[in-house]
Amino acid sequence: MSPLPDILSQLNDDMRRDDDWGAVASYIPELAHIDPAQFGIAVTTADGEVFTAGDAETPFSVQSITKVFTLAIALGRSGDQLWRRVGREPSGKAFNSIVQLEQENGRPRNPFINAGAIVTTDEILTGRLPREALAEILQFIRAAAGDENIHINDVVARSEKSHGHRNFALAHFLASCGNLNNTPNKTLGTYFHHCAIEMSARQLAMSGRFLIETTKLPRLIRPPRIRRLNALMLTCGHYDGSGDFAYRVGLPAKSGVGGGILAIVPGVASVAVWSPGLNRYGNSKKGTEAMASLARDMGWSIF
Ligand code: DON
Repeated sequence: MSPLPDILSQLNDDMRRDDDWGAVASYIPELAHIDPAQFGIAVTTADGEVFTAGDAETPFSVQSITKVFTLAIALGRSGDQLWRRVGREPSGKAFNSIVQLEQENGRPRNPFINAGAIVTTDEILTGRLPREALAEILQFIRAAAGDENIHINDVVARSEKSHGHRNFALAHFLASCGNLNNTPNKTLGTYFHHCAIEMSARQLAMSGRFLIETTKLPRLIRPPRIRRLNALMLTCGHYDGSGDFAYRVGLPAKSGVGGGILAIVPGVASVAVWSPGLNRYGNSKKGTEAMASLARDMGWSIF
């Protein structure tokens, strides 16, 4: 018998034992009133098995985790041309930092910080309407998860848009450097909406299967690109906490300010964990702890 169900159940108990859950993101008003004392985890294996524990069926705002999907789509659309507009280096700065963008002349360090994800969204949007771009993003995620019941929460998108001054600052700065093809309003409208996609931990783990790299599952993108997405998740997926996450967990992963983390065990599994309270880097506090514990117990590390 696989030890996974027992390990997940034990992990769920452990995570609920101490009540230091971290603080939920408050700069998106709609997310500010979510109860931080929630925890869910789901693992889907390359063999097609799914194991869950805790609040694994509760939908949450996946936020920046969608940046993995938008990067996959933008690379599919534009190939290596995309790298003219955005870099591939860790930023060492907060996800919404402004200062580096000016120092580096409007070319964001990587596609996972906000400025970089605004650029990949803009790339997907070029020549299309926002609703067409959003339909493609949703279609990709639903196909990856094998689940049509994945939607955008419009209230969350509007809540972020009406308070998104930092992202507007980033988008206007990108535009001033000639690195935005659409208006800031149009690009950010699309960006806020894809960030507001909701999934449960189970759905998120399922949607991450395309990054496992296995012949046992249907392929959405080719293996060289899967490896590159994983490389970027490892080096940039947790912003200025990426080094710490790689040290503690040793797996490529992407976090979101809604408290979700999608981690990939290459060739083996896709793991989604959710707990809405965040640590000082804006990444899920218990989610990071749970990933470190799971990786240790399962012997999962790319190193
Ligand atoms: O643009 C923002 O600030 C949010 N829509 C997404 C940020 C986010 O998820 C950062 N992740 N930890």
